[in-house]
Amino acid sequence: MPIYHKLGRIPHKRHTVFRKENGDLYYEHLMGNKGFTGLSSLLYHVRRPTTILQTRLQKKCNWESESEPVLRMRHFKTHNLSPVGPSVALNRTPLLYNKAVAISFAQPSANDDFFYRNSQGDELIFVSDGEGVLESSFGELPFRKGDYLVIPRSITHRYRFSEGIKRLLIIESVGQIRTPQRYRNEQGQLMENSPFCERDIRKPENLPVNDAMGEFPIMVKKANAIYEVILEHHPFDVVGWDGYYYPWALNIEDFEPITGRIHQPPPVHQTFEGDGFVICSFVPRLFDYHPQSIPVPYQHSNVMSDEVIYYANEEFMSRKGIEEGSITLHPDGLPHGPQPGKIEESIGKSKTGELAVMVDTFQALIVAKGALQVEDRDYSRSWLEDKK
Ligand SMILES: [Fe+2]
Repeated sequence: MPIYHKLGRIPHKRHTVFRKENGDLYYEHLMGNKGFTGLSSLLYHVRRPTTILQTRLQKKCNWESESEPVLRMRHFKTHNLSPVGPSVALNRTPLLYNKAVAISFAQPSANDDFFYRNSQGDELIFVSDGEGVLESSFGELPFRKGDYLVIPRSITHRYRFSEGIKRLLIIESVGQIRTPQRYRNEQGQLMENSPFCERDIRKPENLPVNDAMGEFPIMVKKANAIYEVILEHHPFDVVGWDGYYYPWALNIEDFEPITGRIHQPPPVHQTFEGDGFVICSFVPRLFDYHPQSIPVPYQHSNVMSDEVIYYANEEFMSRKGIEEGSITLHPDGLPHGPQPGKIEESIGKSKTGELAVMVDTFQALIVAKGALQVEDRDYSRSWLEDKK
């Protein structure tokens, strides 16, 4: 995240002597991407982060595609997915993927007693339901319903969920997940035209130091496999850190919608960008104020992108037949738009209460087998007048 942040105790000068009370040295550890030229942080550990007792293959993550490719409008009801296990890290249902981005869904029922890090991609988690604390080497980051959690790759972390329903939309990205370039000035600050600013971005706030020896398993995702890595001490033994590389959060309610006299195009809803995709937030807002405006979008051909929308509530201005937790996929190759009745219905309305997350990918998405169990196969015919 291009905001400098610091927690705990650090030496006055980097790469210099920093001693514990007993005279031993703390262990300095640089974490950063793009080979010492990207965002980075310097962490100071009580013990060496390199004391690995053993590693072993835990499982392969081979995502299976549907057996025959299909070209039609798709609709999947994620809230009907059967939970596949208790763990947020290990038990995720694959839904949609390509070489740049992978979308899955998790409904964890217990807190993991191990740690997790994804060393093949950044993770962006949309917390559709649930709250708790995201623990990491960088400290504690409380989260709640509606949060986007951005966890840059290779950050060791663990979720401590509170009681209640937990539903998470998980987006893994080969490229770095970041704020939209066009909202950042040349120094990286979010500009006045950005729908959110640094004040809305939440950073780790507490840094408990866990100085404990033992066997601490970390599940590491790398090259489409999960490895169990046993560390000789607790991984969250950092006494201080500073830099730009750390997990952060933005709540969808803190995204301020950009509205106009006539319909504004989807890029005004953009919240994040990756390599090969963008993420947009559709939030409650006032509708267009031209007296003759049509608030819902026109029919459109999403040329060169596949359009995925996750509906965080049951309302969406241009759509019918969806429910909270629905995911629609409108693939490139088929024009789409409001279903019959929705255009007339929208005229004269003053506001919408919709809440949805859109992922537009620049390469075609593959539907994973796991999504088929909750597919609404009638969705593609919902544009026909007889389905009104
Ligand atoms: Fe669209």
